[in-house]
Formats: sequence, C-alpha cells, structure tokens
Amino acid sequence: MPLSPWNDDVRLANRKTPPMLRMLTAGESHGNALTAIVEGFPAGVTLDKAFIDRELERRQGGYGRGKRQKLETDRVFIDSGTFKGVSTGAPITLRLVNNDAKLERLQEPAAPRGGHVDLAGAISYQTGIRQVLERASARETAVRVAAGALARLVLREVGIHVFGYVAELGGVAAPPLSRDPAVRDASPVYTLNPEADAAIVAAVDAAREAGDTLGGIVETIVEGCPIGLGSHVQPDRRLDARLACAVMGIQAIKGVEIGLGFEAAHRPGSKVMDPVRYDPDHDADDRRFGFRRPSNNAGGIEGGTSNGEPIVVRAAKKPISTLAKRGPSINMATKQESPANYERSDVCAVPAASVIVENVVGFEIASALLERFDGSSLDSLKATMAAVHALNREKLASWADRP
Ligand SMILES: Cc1cc2nc3c(=O)[nH]c(=O)nc-3n(C[C@H](O)[C@H](O)[C@H](O)COP(=O)(O)O)c2cc1C
Repeated sequence: MPLSPWNDDVRLANRKTPPMLRMLTAGESHGNALTAIVEGFPAGVTLDKAFIDRELERRQGGYGRGKRQKLETDRVFIDSGTFKGVSTGAPITLRLVNNDAKLERLQEPAAPRGGHVDLAGAISYQTGIRQVLERASARETAVRVAAGALARLVLREVGIHVFGYVAELGGVAAPPLSRDPAVRDASPVYTLNPEADAAIVAAVDAAREAGDTLGGIVETIVEGCPIGLGSHVQPDRRLDARLACAVMGIQAIKGVEIGLGFEAAHRPGSKVMDPVRYDPDHDADDRRFGFRRPSNNAGGIEGGTSNGEPIVVRAAKKPISTLAKRGPSINMATKQESPANYERSDVCAVPAASVIVENVVGFEIASALLERFDGSSLDSLKATMAAVHALNREKLASWADRP
C-alpha cells in the first residue's frame, strides 16, 4: 500500500542520512596494521594505487622527520570493494602494514608527556598510558592520507585538483613564489619558495641541536570545485564548518582558517568582501557561468557554499611535544617530579602535515561532491554534474522571467 504524503514527509524528516562518503580508521602506532574502511565510494573508478602510494611516501618525507620514517615504507593494500582494479561501490578496505610492529613488547611509560593525551586519556579510559598514546599517535594519519588520496581519484576524474604546501615553518615565512607542483616536490620542506628553504632547514637543524621541535603553517588549495558544495541551510552542512572539523581532527593542528581567516577581523568590510563581476566571454565554458571574483578573500566559500573560486584552507601545526631534552613531568607511581617519557620522535613534521591536510581536505570535498550529485557510480556522478550544470545555465538565461 502506498504511503500517504504525510507519512512520506515524516519519514523524510526523521531520516538520518549518512554522509555519502565516510570513513573509519583503526590501528595503533606499533600495532600490526592501520586500516580504513571507506564507504560510499562510487563504482567505476580505476584505483590508481601508485597515486595513493606516492602520497604516502610524501607524508613520510620532509626535512626534520625521525628514524621511524626510515623503518616504515608505507604501501597500500586494497582489500575490498575492488574488482580487476576498479571500484565496485562496496566498502573499500585500505590497509597499511606496520614494519615496526612491536606493540606487546613496549614498556608502560613512567611519566606522561605534556601536550599529549597520555595523562587525560589514561584517566579517562582507566588504562595505562601506552594504550592511549598508541592510538593517539599521528601514525594513524598514514591511513587517513591513503583514504584522502583514494577520494581524490574521484575528484581527478571530474577536474577538481587539490594541492598542499608549507607556507611557514619555525617562524620562517615562505610565501609562494609559484604554483608549480615541481617546485614544491623539489623543496626539502615542501614550500613553493626555494629562497626560504635554506633558512627553514637551518632552523630545523638548530632545533634538533637544542633538543627542541618546530611547528608551522600549511595551506591547501582546491581548484575546479563546482558552485554549490555544502549549504547555508544548516550549520553542519556548511562546507567551511565541515572542512574545519576535518582539518582540526588532525593530530597537532591547533588552528584552521578559510581564505583570509583571522586576518579578516583586522580589515574593514570593503577590504574583505569579494566584488561580483561578470565576464560574458567565459560564460559558456566554465563552472562559474562567467561570474568572476577579482579577489578571493572568502577562500572559495560564502555562506557555507562553494562559490566556484579556489577553496583555500590554512592550518597551524603546533611543534611536537615530545622533546629530546625531555620536558618536566610527574612519575605516575610515586607522584614525584620526573622527566617526561621520550618516544622516538620527529623534530618537525610540518611538511608531512601539509600532505595530511591536503588529503583530508580532498576527502571532505569528495564527500560534499558525492552528496550534491549522484555518487553511486562515476558515470552517474559525471552525468548528474552535467545535468545540474545545464539546468543552472537554463535558469540563469531566463532569470528575468522568474516569477
Ligand atoms: C605528521 C605528524 C607527525 C607527528 N609526529 C610526532 C612525533 O614524532 N612525536 C610526537 O610527540 N608528536 C608527534 N605528532 C603530534 C602528536 O600526534 C599530537 O600532538 C598528539 O597526538 C596530541 O594531540 P594534539 O596535539 O592534537 O592535542 C605528530 C603530528 C603529526 C601531524
């Protein structure tokens, strides 16, 4: 028997729609493996494992990383959701094997490290420190990078490109001098400013010498996004809110900005709002229907909705809290002062953070894209994107006739 319209409304109102693309990760830093299950990935995408492995390799690189990166050579295993190298629409399992697996042999730290979950987590979960630090470790970001790189395979197919780099490290600014990926890939610290690299490398060396660590600022730019990802209608559907949540969810990220970010608070409105212009020459051939913004202070998102300009996300990464010179702490058993536990650690992981943010942003953009358009298969994604584009073009052409 068909449901009445009233019943339909109630059902729809109460429906809890899962995000089209979602992920869960599992695994400990020194456990056997890290795993991610990615659900809602469209069918028909060629699973370019080499692209995912390249992103994993970049995450392990960058000047200032510790010995651990040399022990692990991350390579992704795709355990489900694929048939003859092409996605099927079923959940995809990504797995990274830990070469340095030794969880059961590791000691319980005597004194918690400040700046880590060691103390709060052990009390909260009523376990030892080891159990919480193993899961809290940023080693988990390896599999999040794999999931983000997987999601970017969809973005690539529809002309959306995600690009991340280091904008500042250890207080040394590295404003971009180009947008050439080759420049970033040639930089030991993943900047777009070869002139700043020597000073940054020297700062990392000085920090290592002093038993200290360095943080920095990374930026990700997404180009080619159609207008209309995210929404203004509910706070949790805003694209800026979703990106901020995803990026803030990365270990050691302490601030997220979209576009001008905090700088907007220092300027008058006339120096923040992006004027709207129209260029008829481009009307036919682009995703913005000829609308142009001479500035992009909004970072590609207005009212929680992508506006067709590049999306610009910046994140501040704090310096690593595990210090070779060992910070002050308390022995948990005796309650006496004691140097904090020392786990093998990086001096600086800002270049790695740029790769993580890039791929986490990529995942979130893909998720928003697959919600906006039909993401059951790559073909239906492309078809619905084209159909919505054509409909918008029609509506814009007959704008004057609107009721
Ligand atoms: C790529 C990357 C590598 C990291 N490496 C280390 C490390 O070697 N040692 C360390 O103590 N913290 C490291 N961290 C930071 C910790 O994971 C993080 O500070 C800690 O889990 C506490 O979380 P919170 O800083 O978000 O509060 C790293 C973070 C990232 C993003």
